Amino acid sequence: MKQLALALLMGCGGAAADAGLAAETRADAGGSAVDDAGDDATSTADPCGDAPVVAWANGAHGVFIEHCQPCHASTALDRHGAPPDVVFDTRADAQRWADRVQARAVDAATMPPAGGVLEQDRALLALWLQCGVDR
Ligand code: HEC
Repeated sequence: MKQLALALLMGCGGAAADAGLAAETRADAGGSAVDDAGDDATSTADPCGDAPVVAWANGAHGVFIEHCQPCHASTALDRHGAPPDVVFDTRADAQRWADRVQARAVDAATMPPAGGVLEQDRALLALWLQCGVDR
């Protein structure tokens, strides 16, 4: 958290700064997300109870920037056929498409079309959709 606050103080504006922040904090969240998910496998408790909090700012946004926005950003230079209304610029945009993101990028892994998303990133996305989509 200290790291995030520092980065927020320093990273004022700019897509590059934003992406850097997301990637940096994502690395932290990713490690613990995978560990904790493993621990939860034997538990029947609320799946979100012990899960690390994956919010837009500390996890999901970075995954969208890295893996989805090249085609889906409203500013994408070449959408490669991605529908014009399917954009993930903001948390609200992503929330609007949450069900389809779950279906295409978590359940079926047909997005991005060519694959290449690390399991860790899919796990982050799944955790955000399940437990943190309102954050
Ligand atoms: C290389 C370009 C590209 C990337 C990267 C990409 N997409 Fe897509 N996306 C497309 C294209 C093309 C379509 C339309 C064809 C289709 O639905 O398969 C699409 C359609 C979609 C749709 C709407 C269709 C539906 O099933 O509801 C969603 C939601 C979606 N993508 C989510 C994602 C997510 C989430 C990511 C990142 C994990 C992602 N996409 C990455 C090209 C891309």
